[in-house]
Amino acid sequence: MPLPKAELHLHIEGTLEPELAFELAARNGVRLPYADTDALREAYRFADLQSFLNLYYELMAVLRTEDDFADLANAYLARAAAQGVRHAEIFFDPQAHVARGVPMGTVVEGLWRALGESEANHGVSTRLIMCFLRDESAESALLTLEAARPYLDRITGIGLDSAEVGHPPAKFREVYEAAAALGLRRVAHAGEEGPPEYITQALDVLGVERVDHGLRCVEDPALVERLVRERIPLTLCPLSNVRLRAVDTLADHPLPAMLEAGLLCTVNSDDPAYFGGYAGDNFAAVHESLGLTRDRLRELARNSFLASFLEDDEERRARYLAEVDAYEFGDDVS
Ligand code: HPA
Ligand code: ZN
Repeated sequence: MPLPKAELHLHIEGTLEPELAFELAARNGVRLPYADTDALREAYRFADLQSFLNLYYELMAVLRTEDDFADLANAYLARAAAQGVRHAEIFFDPQAHVARGVPMGTVVEGLWRALGESEANHGVSTRLIMCFLRDESAESALLTLEAARPYLDRITGIGLDSAEVGHPPAKFREVYEAAAALGLRRVAHAGEEGPPEYITQALDVLGVERVDHGLRCVEDPALVERLVRERIPLTLCPLSNVRLRAVDTLADHPLPAMLEAGLLCTVNSDDPAYFGGYAGDNFAAVHESLGLTRDRLRELARNSFLASFLEDDEERRARYLAEVDAYEFGDDVS
């Protein structure tokens, strides 16, 4: 049995495995410009974030109906459960779908069909986080929040993703203020490819409670000190960082030093279909390549529940934390 954990940085569109992509393409009469799943996997060699995003948006063409979104989410939840995920806070990118003519309602209703039954079907509790695309305009983000109004009972928070450099968090001040007024929780990607100042802006201008990635905070000791002092969680994604060339190899990842510095780090999968692994695979990889001890892995699992948006269900959080404390590691670690 794998270590119980929460997944806090997971783009549902990034869980689209090649096999499901071809299945949905056939079902919807969409032609993919790849001969087969092997040819598609061959394309999974990325130079940076943008080269990944190009393929990520291209493959979304196969997602058209509520059934597609429900099947996508169910496939993810089954895989996550098998790797010890007990709670998943799941990102989705509505603008990428609405721009293709797929309405917000289709996306949310489809995802919800899987998420609403996830505890019964997979033993995984869930939350949904709506992300804005930062390379789209601030006006588009505001319209997206407006379009999401009928579905806000299913949406716990908002996030910010897509191409980071040149699109600083401050661009989205207004929509984050509006979301806060609606009682939504706030996170944002910052410091993946962008500079440490983007992390500071996400905290000060957008009021985020958790930073997605946050990797480049290590370049600014004063910022690290602040993140430690304010107990701001970081949702790190080690295998993603390797695939998108944020670090040269996993052995170069600063996670051990970040833990040593007292940062509230969590380990997550980002876009597991593209980056070579789900949550448990990321845990196993940092154990093997970075030599993190079982105590450190337990700390990472504890952190994932501490950093999760379970304030509306503290009993559940306490139960999950007790599961982590009682966990006995076997030979394989994940
Ligand atoms: N970074 C930024 N945007 C994204 C990512 C990512 O890793 N995955 C999906 N959208
Ligand atoms: Zn991400």
